[in-house]
Amino acid sequence: MGNTFSRRVMSEEKSKHPLFKAQIEKATRFQLRKPTPNKTNWDTFYKLSSNENMMGASPKAVAAMKAALEGVYEYDFYDDYQFQDVLADFYNQEIKSGQFITANSGVEVLEIICRGLVSVGSECIISSPTFSPYKNIIELEGGVVIDIPLKLPDYSYDVEGVLNAVTDKTAIVFVTNPNNPTGTYATKDEFERLLDGLPKDVIVVYDEVYFHFVDADDFPYAKDYVKAGNNVISLHTFSKIYGLAGMRVGYGFTTPEIGEYLNKIFRPFRIGTLATIAAYEALKDTEHVEASQKMVWEGKKWLYKKFDENNIQYWPSQGNFVMFKVGMNSLELTSAMLDQGVMVRPGDNFGAPGCIRLTIGTNEANERFWEVLQGIIK
Ligand SMILES: Cc1ncc(COP(=O)(O)O)c(C=O)c1O
Repeated sequence: MGNTFSRRVMSEEKSKHPLFKAQIEKATRFQLRKPTPNKTNWDTFYKLSSNENMMGASPKAVAAMKAALEGVYEYDFYDDYQFQDVLADFYNQEIKSGQFITANSGVEVLEIICRGLVSVGSECIISSPTFSPYKNIIELEGGVVIDIPLKLPDYSYDVEGVLNAVTDKTAIVFVTNPNNPTGTYATKDEFERLLDGLPKDVIVVYDEVYFHFVDADDFPYAKDYVKAGNNVISLHTFSKIYGLAGMRVGYGFTTPEIGEYLNKIFRPFRIGTLATIAAYEALKDTEHVEASQKMVWEGKKWLYKKFDENNIQYWPSQGNFVMFKVGMNSLELTSAMLDQGVMVRPGDNFGAPGCIRLTIGTNEANERFWEVLQGIIK
């Protein structure tokens, strides 16, 4: 009898190994990407779906990586301390070395932040539609996601909604500025109202990975708020303007107190040698940064004009991408575009059903996008 009973219990719970953590079991697994399309199917292929820099990587970074390639049999000479020193110089010592958190991507900085600051039952506020990995990273630590969506029709930030959602369990408020996928932004006034209204111990994770593409005068920059001593952690990446998405490098900066605490989450040789070398060079390559900004700003203007002339709904964007909507199912539209070698992203997974997110590309890519879109919707 005893045996039968224990066998029954085991079979009912056979997926639950006693060492499994409840919060990891309960977490929503991050959606797997579809396989990369076979680019040889088309004469031209334009990947305008992941907000990378369509101008490519910083040429200086690429040259430095090539020169360092033979040396990769060794562990990195560059460590987080040195990287943080380089970043502090890049910020003219307005932010000091120990205030930086360096990691192998922006996403890994988010993991470090949540590992350090989210406990089982902590509430974390996000505002959908937004960057989808936040949810999984929060849940893996046992955090509870509280979604206070952006306000329709213009996807503006809901300061009052967020403040009203704060409880004594609130740990972090994630502000994605400019927001992905909408390209919309919280203004300086809105961000300051948020900071003023939050209890002192709530931390704001300020994801400004697209800040290089901002041209709005009333955009709030994390640096000013960290320098003033607010509990803000900024998030930055080398995947966007610097064109190093495949190398995986990112960083954040925060107050000395939070920086000292989060830097205890240490892993030897966290960032690869080539990625670190590329990051150092990319930071210096202002020519590449300026040319990339110009490409995005001019491309955006051209696309807005086309959208306006053809009555296509879009949301003015402060990022290197723009979200638009046509009267067609977004999954069908993206699939039809991919059949013709233009890859764009449906907004559905972000919480913007029916919308499409387009990464601004070179003139040639933008023109091809437009040609293919018109062919489908006409
Ligand atoms: C809003 C936002 N935050 C963070 C990231 C993370 O970038 P990465 O992990 O490539 O550094 C991305 C990438 O697309 C993003 O869109």
